[in-house]
Amino acid sequence: MEEYAIELNNVWYSPDGNHYTLKNIDLKVRRGACLALIGPSGSGKTTLLKIITRLIKPSNGFVIVRGSNGWLEKHRVGYIPQQLGLVRSLTALENVLIGAHSRIGYIGTLFSVFPKKEMKLALEYLDMAGISHKAERKVYTLSGGERQRVAIARALMQDPEIILADEFVSNLDIVTAREIMDMMKRVKGTDMSLIITTHDINLARYYSETTVIIKDGIKIAEISSNVLDHNKVKEVFA
Ligand SMILES: Nc1ncnc2c1ncn2[C@@H]1O[C@H](COP(=O)(O)OP(=O)(O)O)[C@@H](O)[C@H]1O
Ligand SMILES: [Mg+2]
Repeated sequence: MEEYAIELNNVWYSPDGNHYTLKNIDLKVRRGACLALIGPSGSGKTTLLKIITRLIKPSNGFVIVRGSNGWLEKHRVGYIPQQLGLVRSLTALENVLIGAHSRIGYIGTLFSVFPKKEMKLALEYLDMAGISHKAERKVYTLSGGERQRVAIARALMQDPEIILADEFVSNLDIVTAREIMDMMKRVKGTDMSLIITTHDINLARYYSETTVIIKDGIKIAEISSNVLDHNKVKEVFA
């Protein structure tokens, strides 16, 4: 079994073939590890996550996810975009069931034909995420923290080997953010890998083993998160 869940080798990305928004990125994430990606706005964090999910293709270099570099190969990657990507007019439960589409097909998802087994699973994940009591609530009636919980449950429904969470708890108050990160760590287990992008050094320090700092599309440092502090970040940003 391969040691790394994710390997990026000399990855470059240009949206227009002219200027590069990612330059020569090398990155390895072990199975079961949590990595924090820190960088100013526009530094390329979201682009990097999209490359790992294979939503976009690198202009150069290669990406290996769970031992495979096949572009078409399906990996169980749960991507939680910054805006969460929930369907506001559907219930929490219905949103989580969307996470099962790879097993039951888009048609099944579209017509809400869900096997009992999937319904049960969806409720279990909502429960793990601490939001099963609001399973029947439409998403637009939920708070920001509650929506984050639904988004986690939906990602878990994909039975992911990797979860990528973009600016995951950035819009939440610190208490709720910590609570949700704690829950995330708990449900992650020992084999799942997690990448979070964040502006919050404290969050990176508490919840990840390794922090990667990027700026202008360049990886400028990879630091053990327990030695990360504001001075260190200032130093590498300078
Ligand atoms: N679809 C796009 N087309 C062109 N440029 C883009 C696109 N998406 C992002 N960019 C540019 O790529 C750079 C990195 O963006 P992004 O990955 O969103 O950074 P971050 O998530 O760190 O804020 C920025 O300069 C941004 O303007
Ligand atoms: Mg971003």
